[in-house]
Amino acid sequence: MSENIIVLGIETSCDETGVALYSQNNGIMAEMLRSQAEIHSNYGGVVPELASRDHVRTLLPLIRETMDQAGVQQEDITGIAYTAGPGLMGALFVGACVGRSLAFAWQKPSVEIHHMEGHLLAPLMEAEPPAFPFIALLVSGGHTQLIRANDWGQYELLGSSLDDAAGEAFDKVARMLDLGYPGGPKVAACAETFDHDPAVPEIVFPKPMVDRPGLDFSFSGLKTAVLNRIQMIKAEQGAIKPGDKANICAAFQRAVVDTLILKCKRALKQTGVKRLVLAGGVSANKMLRQSVAEQLSGEYDIYYPRPRWCTDNGAMIAFAGYQHFKRFHHHSGQPLQGSRGISKDMLAIKVLPRWPLC
Ligand code: KG4
Ligand code: ZN
Repeated sequence: MSENIIVLGIETSCDETGVALYSQNNGIMAEMLRSQAEIHSNYGGVVPELASRDHVRTLLPLIRETMDQAGVQQEDITGIAYTAGPGLMGALFVGACVGRSLAFAWQKPSVEIHHMEGHLLAPLMEAEPPAFPFIALLVSGGHTQLIRANDWGQYELLGSSLDDAAGEAFDKVARMLDLGYPGGPKVAACAETFDHDPAVPEIVFPKPMVDRPGLDFSFSGLKTAVLNRIQMIKAEQGAIKPGDKANICAAFQRAVVDTLILKCKRALKQTGVKRLVLAGGVSANKMLRQSVAEQLSGEYDIYYPRPRWCTDNGAMIAFAGYQHFKRFHHHSGQPLQGSRGISKDMLAIKVLPRWPLC
């Protein structure tokens, strides 16, 4: 292995094609992202078959562009990291096939990365990364989890959503209100337009699961409360006005944010850990960041990835891959927990649409 480890990272688990090069000496050398939001927006959610087809069209040219931008040749690359799960089977398969085939053609090792480990480690790419141990709130479209990260690859699950993920709830509320896809940023933007008119009562939704002990989440009750409210308004006035939408979005966002923060506080207290990391698509949410700053930053150190590394991207996969290659290279020991190993063997290609991180 060369002195300067350079890893090509590939992310295709859902509706973003992400490619990046991470180098030991220079960090992220280049990164590219193609969003499929426009393709899926007509359907109000991700259409798996369309996602796979678009990854097929996009991935190879994007890898070429990323390498050109970084001025990196195939011989400079130490190894290839690709998301092997969890995610959409067909979408994952495109990244895995391309990653393994390039590794085979270039005679390089490849490593299968857990998508949520990518999210979890993304804040560690920043200039002032958190030290271990830290508590991580992973909030994405597919997952809502509280994790205690003790060291590289040493993760403990403290709590998770029993039903919908936080991002999924945002997406479904956006759909109920015809706000478009992806729903998180649309609901957040609509909530920002809420201008409280004292003559109209401000909606308050119950905070889900906060009265129950433990660190699990549930968002389906809140989603039903939103649906009931929409139906009630429609029955009363025939249609939903923009002001009603803003009122609902603000109340929904408040309930989600309050619940997430309450569970974070509980996890921090319970473990005595002083560092909190927020990652995954929903961690880009401005109101969540504001409320965390107000309620937690006095007592705890808070860490986020920059917004473009909150949502799916290739950089976090290249970085997680780099950590795996570096550790394997230096210690030549067993692959890290959470990794399915660094394989140089032939063309075995596997993906794991369901794959617990810990
Ligand atoms: O991490 P991510 O890109 O993909 C998954 O691994 O699922 O997260 C996507 C999710 C979507 O549900 C999206 O609506 C949500 O993150 N999201 C947001 C925001 N930006 C993205 N939710 C709330 N506020 C945002 N600003
Ligand atoms: Zn993700």
